[in-house]
Amino acid sequence: MIMNSFRIKAIAKSIPQKVVTNDDLTKIMDTSDEWIKRRTGITQRHIATRETNTSMCIDVAKQLVEKAGIDVDTINFIIVATMSGDYQTPSTAASVQGAIHADHAVAFDVDAACSGFVYGTSVMNSLLAGKPNGIGIVIGGEKLSRLINWQDRGTAVLFGDGAAGILVQNDGSTSQVVSENLSTYGADGMCLTAGHHAGQNPFGENQEQDDPYIKMDGHAVYNFATKRAPESIEQAVADAGLQLNDIKYFIMHQANERIVKRVAKKLGLSMDKFPVNIDKYGNTAAASEPILFTELEEQGLLQRGDYLALTGFGGGLTVGTVIIKY
Ligand code: UT7
Repeated sequence: MIMNSFRIKAIAKSIPQKVVTNDDLTKIMDTSDEWIKRRTGITQRHIATRETNTSMCIDVAKQLVEKAGIDVDTINFIIVATMSGDYQTPSTAASVQGAIHADHAVAFDVDAACSGFVYGTSVMNSLLAGKPNGIGIVIGGEKLSRLINWQDRGTAVLFGDGAAGILVQNDGSTSQVVSENLSTYGADGMCLTAGHHAGQNPFGENQEQDDPYIKMDGHAVYNFATKRAPESIEQAVADAGLQLNDIKYFIMHQANERIVKRVAKKLGLSMDKFPVNIDKYGNTAAASEPILFTELEEQGLLQRGDYLALTGFGGGLTVGTVIIKY
């Protein structure tokens, strides 16, 4: 059991205005509302047109500061989990730090694709453990639309944009992170890739080709997710000294509603414990768990003391679960 202090003080999300429905997509590619809904559960997604990844993350950070009622000078750490930062450098987190004038915060990105928010939360938990009164922000932010090949219907229909996050504080009380279980399977990493930029230099022949867009072996990732996510959840729950039924909600990465249903079935649990919002947002990678988390909070469905399991899985390949006593 991890005993660091980590208390969630605020939670917020920022979603791009533009909604793109499945029917909108049928106008630009050979697909159908019926196929997308049946195979994934997605009805629509939000696509950033005026917003950038950075602007959405800044919006989240400003809301968090406002809701928590803290002074920006007291923020020690800012982590943005993303696989689609607007720049390779500066990091999205550094841009957020600059924009909100959190002049005393150390800021950096974590890239663990769709597990990014869980990995980022784990890193923040460790950072705050060594910082009495420390304050941190963890945001999952993605503009995946910039990595989409709109000619590839196998991936283009799946993804969306958005950002959400939490503001946490080491206030000396028991940590809300009661256990965590993270794993990386790098040998399988090439079944989900994005953003390969080989570049050119004048010193020799470059054999590599640029491969900027998201490419995925959907079956391999589906099999990975439905095997490794339940394992990660079971281990994290056991490490917390809990039973699966003690968890109020399993806030899972929203990659495919079928994956969520399969994981619930494998764990022998009712779908009532597995909230789903992929219908509205599609797959928003690192942003998906905090967006869902924020919605549950906004809907008044979370009470202090509830046990929540946040689980991410995807590129890397990575998987991870944190159990939070809310
Ligand atoms: O967030 C990161 C982690 N990602 C995931 O966890 C994703 C895991 N994988 C999946 O969720 C699923 O594999 C997909 C949703 C990506 C695909 O679903 P599927 O049931 O595995 O479909 P499929 O790839 O086997 O394709 C079935 C058929 C194919 O046609 P044929 O070969 O059977 O004639 C595809 O060409 O559906 C066709 N297809 C489409 N048809 C209409 C593929 N994409 C589309 C489309 N619209 N958008």
